[in-house]
Amino acid sequence: MNIALLGYGTVGGGVYELLKDRQDITVKYVLDKAPIPELGERSVTDFSVILQDGEVDTVVEVMGGSEPALQYLTGAMHAGKNIVTANKQLLAEHYDTVTSVAKETGVGFRSSAAVGGGIPWLPNLQRQKRLGQIAEVCGIMNGTTNYILDVMHKKGYDYDSVLQDAQRLGYAEADPTADIEGLDVRRKLMISANVAFDTSLTEQQVPVAGIAGITREDIAGFNEQGYVCKLYATARRVKDGAVMAVVEPTLFKAETLEAAVPANFNLITSVSEYAGRQSFFGEGAGRWPTAFAVVQDLLDLCEKKQGFYTQISQPMPSNNLCEERRYYVRYLVDTWFMDGCVEKRWGNGVITRPVTPAQMHSWYLEARRNDPEIFFAAFNG
Ligand code: HSE
Repeated sequence: MNIALLGYGTVGGGVYELLKDRQDITVKYVLDKAPIPELGERSVTDFSVILQDGEVDTVVEVMGGSEPALQYLTGAMHAGKNIVTANKQLLAEHYDTVTSVAKETGVGFRSSAAVGGGIPWLPNLQRQKRLGQIAEVCGIMNGTTNYILDVMHKKGYDYDSVLQDAQRLGYAEADPTADIEGLDVRRKLMISANVAFDTSLTEQQVPVAGIAGITREDIAGFNEQGYVCKLYATARRVKDGAVMAVVEPTLFKAETLEAAVPANFNLITSVSEYAGRQSFFGEGAGRWPTAFAVVQDLLDLCEKKQGFYTQISQPMPSNNLCEERRYYVRYLVDTWFMDGCVEKRWGNGVITRPVTPAQMHSWYLEARRNDPEIFFAAFNG
């Protein structure tokens, strides 16, 4: 197999290293914005060189972002080339487009690295739905925020200093806002739900709150009360063919599996008709786990395993009003909504009576404009 690698950053460099001594897969080109002198003639800056080379059978995209990645990948598929991508943003925003071009052209299309880093999560969802329905996908899906929360809980450090560590370790996105605000998790949840439920969710269907406002005092309060805070994503089938999907900081009792997830690890769970609850644990971010998943996809293509997007996706209506939970909320500016919700004071904030995620997130979006330091977390169970 001859491949072209688009992107030579943290993950691209790792993929190159894992492939450079193999006989079965040859890296013919590496595309980046500027020439890479140590790669000699393999280094290109013009995608048309790759597109026009009939010897390149597979394009590996690890550059990230929607454009020009979308244009490159659809062009490559129309030229009959297989695709392996780790690009969460592209998949979340253009799931229907890329999967339908893959179907139309009949090329292989694999993206295991897009969710869970080295964890074989998406291929397992495909296996599960061969036998019965998947009812729910959920979990800790972002290595950067898990690392930050874990270090804050265990060492009492400040949020800002730990974020810098996560960036240095290669876990964070180029712009860490996507990690911190939960946008990276939302993308991963959308992709997981799309594969699990054969749908194509939109961002508007998944309310999101990240960990940007969290303080060491919040964490000290959670520790005292026996809770651990995680950034958690859930997408669940609910009645009338709808989906309940949300990303929010969530408090787990210290003795739960979720609370124990350390450092940059992920814990991703599915609930399916016959297998019940299954959780997958592993490194969800970083050069080697992600490069490992990309190379596994290439090896699957060598074995003619084309991809796992075989169903026609159908839209699902949202219902984020169908269940309620209590929330911890720390805020400065009083509002009528919170006046009617507070059950008691707790640590640095309050605990609400049970409210729906839709109610809490719409209040949060509005309240955050006047109160940027606001923070909330749902109680699990
Ligand atoms: N920034 C992402 C994370 C990388 O921290 O999980 C892996 O998708």
